[in-house]
Amino acid sequence: MAYIYFDHNATTPLDPAVLEAMMPFLHEAHGNASSFHSPGREAREAVDLARKQVASLIGAQPAEIVFTSGGTEADNHALRGVIARVKAGAGQPPHLVTSAIEHPAVLNTAQMLEQQGCAVSYLPVDEYGRVRPEDARSAINDATALVSVMLANNEVGTIQPVAAIAAIARERKAIMHTDAVQGLGRIPVDVDALGVDLLSISAHKVYGPKGIGALYIRRGTRIAPLIYGGHQERRRRGGTENVPAIVGFGRACELAGELLAESAAREARLRDRLEQGIRERIEHVRINGHPSERLPNTLNVGFTFVEGESLLMNLDIERVAVSTGSACSSGDLQPSHVLLAMGFEAEAAHGTLRFSLGRRTTEEEIATVLDVLVRVVARVRAMSPMYRDFIKGRRPAAASKA
Ligand SMILES: Cc1ncc(COP(=O)(O)O)c(C=O)c1O
Repeated sequence: MAYIYFDHNATTPLDPAVLEAMMPFLHEAHGNASSFHSPGREAREAVDLARKQVASLIGAQPAEIVFTSGGTEADNHALRGVIARVKAGAGQPPHLVTSAIEHPAVLNTAQMLEQQGCAVSYLPVDEYGRVRPEDARSAINDATALVSVMLANNEVGTIQPVAAIAAIARERKAIMHTDAVQGLGRIPVDVDALGVDLLSISAHKVYGPKGIGALYIRRGTRIAPLIYGGHQERRRRGGTENVPAIVGFGRACELAGELLAESAAREARLRDRLEQGIRERIEHVRINGHPSERLPNTLNVGFTFVEGESLLMNLDIERVAVSTGSACSSGDLQPSHVLLAMGFEAEAAHGTLRFSLGRRTTEEEIATVLDVLVRVVARVRAMSPMYRDFIKGRRPAAASKA
């Protein structure tokens, strides 16, 4: 039985055109892109084309793209690669500036570097989940080697003032990295407009295959490899290229460029309809994230008196797939570090759901999800002692909605 998939920030389905582009390289075109014979050259040409397609979507040169196993590896490469180069040189410990709302791929890497002696500053965010450029200015010092602030947050969708922060980093001669995994294909991403030196992206968020991504490395940036090995990727990432996945990533980027304006406008309209419907039909809700500086497909909602996990499981029974936060933190029951950084109490941070729409989301799906949600929230709240206490304490006439 089909389900309604509103979890595109976790991953997107493979576009049929992407699969079609990949198919020959999963079958007969099996050459190693480093081999000099015809099958090898065929693979090399396919990788070169994909590199151009990926570079073109972010306004980069093909030579500035290093294919990785995904967004996580790109983030690891950016942070560890820059800090490794500094460590090799200077006397004082290197300093890294990042934000409190980064994806675990950055946060846990920063923590590991901290354990190894790197100084790390975690920038706070405002109530909408936005880093203030002034805070970045105060945090950067002469030992700051790298500033890493994500382009758009995966949980609440808030878009960060990366260009402003990058300008400050540049003044202070620090390298600027942004994790643009959630921004790619949803908002325009241009490495020059952003002024970044390093930028991480991942194919499976743009209707490409899982397990492939890239790190953009601006020409001249001092960064060590993360994975040592053969001469692949101009010696910046050893290992035989995953040709089918790279080809799929390239095609996915090409499609993302063609569809960006139209799908962003469409998804924003549907997302706003969902948001309005929730506000109108369900009491005691709170919309999290920035009202306007937000990914067009993302809606994060807090439902008072209930656990997000209970809502998620009840929605799943009704064939609606959503998330309580990021896919990675959904497994444990810790409150979201993003909502905590935005100033929420742990209890409020628990009762949230993330709806993330995609290219194939329809108006009918929005209407169905609204109906199901009204029912599910009422059902879960009916079982909530907190909600029952609240209802007992207030006038009966006001308790009729959801
Ligand atoms: C902001 C952000 N960065 C990094 C990643 C990790 O990317 P990947 O799954 O390709 O390793 C994700 C995935 O959820 C993400 O949302």
